[in-house]
This record gives sequence, C-alpha cells and structure tokens, in this order.
Amino acid sequence: MQGLPRPSVVVATAASGPSLIIRPWRQSGSVVSLRDITNTSFNQHHGIQTTERFGVGADPDGDGIVNEMTRADVTAVTVWQATLPVPGRLIPNDSAGKLRAGGDR
Ligand code: HEM
Repeated sequence: MQGLPRPSVVVATAASGPSLIIRPWRQSGSVVSLRDITNTSFNQHHGIQTTERFGVGADPDGDGIVNEMTRADVTAVTVWQATLPVPGRLIPNDSAGKLRAGGDR
C-alpha cells in the first residue's frame, strides 16, 4: 500500500478492506479518470453541474437552470482531452530562472 493516496488505502468499516483503486490524475493522485476530473472541474471551476453527477432535472446551485451539462457533453469534453498531447516544459536558460522561448519541446 506504500505510495497510494489516502482514498485508496482508507478502510471504511472493519469488515471492508482498502479499495486499492489506482487514481492516476492530479498531483495528489486522487482522481480515477478523465471523466471524473471533468465532472469535478466543471462544477468547482465553472459552476456547471453535470447531469450524471447531480441528476437530471436537478438544480443543486439554485441558479434556476437545470441540465447544465449532459452526459453527451461530458463524453465529448473527456474524449477531446484524451486526444491532447502531454504538455511540454519550459527549462530555464540560467540559474536565475529566465525562460527560453519555445521551451524544450
Ligand atoms: C478556470 C478553470 C480551471 C482551473 C483554474 C483549473 C486549474 C487546474 C489546476 C491548478 C490543475 C493542476 C492540479 C493538480 O495537478 O493537482 C489542473 C489540472 C487539470 N485540469 Fe483543470 N482547471 C480548470 C478547469 C478545468 C476543466 C473544466 C477541466 C475539464 C474539462 C479540467 C481538467 C483538468 C485536467 C485533465 C487536469 C490534469 C490533471 C493531471 O495532471 O492529472 N480543468 N487544472
């Protein structure tokens, strides 16, 4: 269990063991899939609630709008993200941290 984040090793009841689910997303290793991070990010960063997480016809933030993002919308955004390349890095030219134009791609 060494190296796994807390959600993967926590034991909910005496009768159950840890889930040991691998969560490869986020620096914290706390999200299980691109779809999961998409549902969370749209809610937390944009105030948009997906039907698959919050329910069809639900208005959990009370803004008078229901079905703000459908299951199909989530699929489209998730698949699009999966097509993106791994981000590059910008390596400093010198120890002062000045960035080289174009990075090291
Ligand atoms: C203005 C809105 C947003 C902000 C400020 C934001 C901010 C961030 C930050 C700070 C991270 C790094 C987190 C970490 O590695 O622990 C991150 C990662 C990420 N975000 Fe966002 N985010 C936003 C919207 C979204 C949305 C709407 C989506 C999905 C459609 C999304 C998908 C992702 C993904 C896939 C990662 C990569 C996670 C990984 O490297 O494992 N983000 N975002």
